[in-house]
Amino acid sequence: MKVTVIGTGYVGLVAGACIADFGFDVTCIDKDESKVAALRAGSVPIYEPGLTEIVTRTQANGSLRFASAYQDAIPQSDVIFIAVGTPTNDEDGSADISAVIAAAEELAPLLRGRTVIATKSTVPIGTGQRLEALFATVAPEADVAIVSNPEFLREGSAVRDFVEPDRVVIGAETDWAAAAMRELYGPIEERGIPVLVVDRSTAEISKYAANSFLATKIAFINEVADLCEQAGGDVRSVADAIGLDSRIGSQFLKAGPGFGGSCFPKDTRAFVTSSERLGIRQRVVSAAVHANEARKLHLVQRVADACDGDLSNARVAVLGLAFKAGTDDLRESPSLFVVPELVRRAAEVRAHDPVAMPAARETFSGITYGETVAETLDGADVAVILTDWPEYRDLDPETMARAMRTNIVVDLRNTMDAGKLEEHGVAVVGIGRRDSLDDLAQVPQPSFGQAAE
Ligand code: UGA
Repeated sequence: MKVTVIGTGYVGLVAGACIADFGFDVTCIDKDESKVAALRAGSVPIYEPGLTEIVTRTQANGSLRFASAYQDAIPQSDVIFIAVGTPTNDEDGSADISAVIAAAEELAPLLRGRTVIATKSTVPIGTGQRLEALFATVAPEADVAIVSNPEFLREGSAVRDFVEPDRVVIGAETDWAAAAMRELYGPIEERGIPVLVVDRSTAEISKYAANSFLATKIAFINEVADLCEQAGGDVRSVADAIGLDSRIGSQFLKAGPGFGGSCFPKDTRAFVTSSERLGIRQRVVSAAVHANEARKLHLVQRVADACDGDLSNARVAVLGLAFKAGTDDLRESPSLFVVPELVRRAAEVRAHDPVAMPAARETFSGITYGETVAETLDGADVAVILTDWPEYRDLDPETMARAMRTNIVVDLRNTMDAGKLEEHGVAVVGIGRRDSLDDLAQVPQPSFGQAAE
């Protein structure tokens, strides 16, 4: 079976490479010729563990190709995945599907024979129907079936999530299209992983519902964390206590700076707006969106509180810029709000991230970077952990205490061993722990503006 994937972003590139690795003949198309040239040379533009190896292996054995012209692949294709971006529409929070429509319009005249067109991009409910109408108008002779095949992969573990998913969802309206898609996912189904064949609307809704539910879980535990800070509990233990209930489940109950990334913020907003267009209010998910937005405002105040309320001239070491560990992606990362706000409040910011620094240098202004964690912490009054990278969790308390001017860590991910740090005289302000706030009273407060020793 010949497969074409349009778009070589996270979803398209991972799907294309993994399907090629299953043994199918795959062409990945991207309009950006320099990106195609780089991919042909084996250079993968995103940080995704395991992906470079698969791209190299499948190009070498001839099952994966890259092209920039539709003509080079569409006419021979049995299945075409559309995996282009669907960013948030700034006006109303809906998903902007103009790139999906443009791809469909461009490929339509090139179709030959029976073809499945599957949306992998996260598209608003009803997009399948809209594409069907488009093909009926611009390519009435084409024998096409529009399928929804949503992707549930996470950045940082995208390859594993594709190859070992919890389930595959295929939204198809015709048996032949469902059969073609099942053939593609045969290597997964053979391992006993459920492949659900449902109608197209069900598949489209399932994608938004999955992301919205997980985002709501995070927004919920973050508000429980706020309660713990006032009432004296520990949100990590509350998460354990409720997560062990198999009806709730322990994942996505880590309190932190709020959900970010290219999916949850965008998809929750789009779920709310696309439901509203159909006259349905999503009160629960709307509340999660608002709670997550409001959370950002308090993050910097936490750092300011750790500095006696005044950030001017405070030396702040920001550890972690990516929206989560395992990726270099800054999209809707808490750092995009926290770093400029620290700068606005006249803090001296030095930042570090194990992989996102090249992207950060193009994004932030008015800050410096430490090449190493030690360099970043040198002379700092407060360290702020924004991303849960393992190297921050494993930092040696003695080295930290020696490097910093005032030993306060604001750990917005609860990633560090607070007890161990406190033994070495480093105060830790975590999330959802009353005692962490109290610790500050015992730490000598910095007097900013003095040169580090
Ligand atoms: C998410 C979903 O998890 C994937 O299943 C989905 O396919 C993907 O969106 C998508 O729609 O493409 P991703 O955005 O890569 O994947 O990241 P997650 O690991 O889900 O994390 C999202 C955000 O929630 C991050 O900001 C993370 O730090 C935060 N988070 C996650 C928490 O604050 N607490 C948690 O317990 C878990």
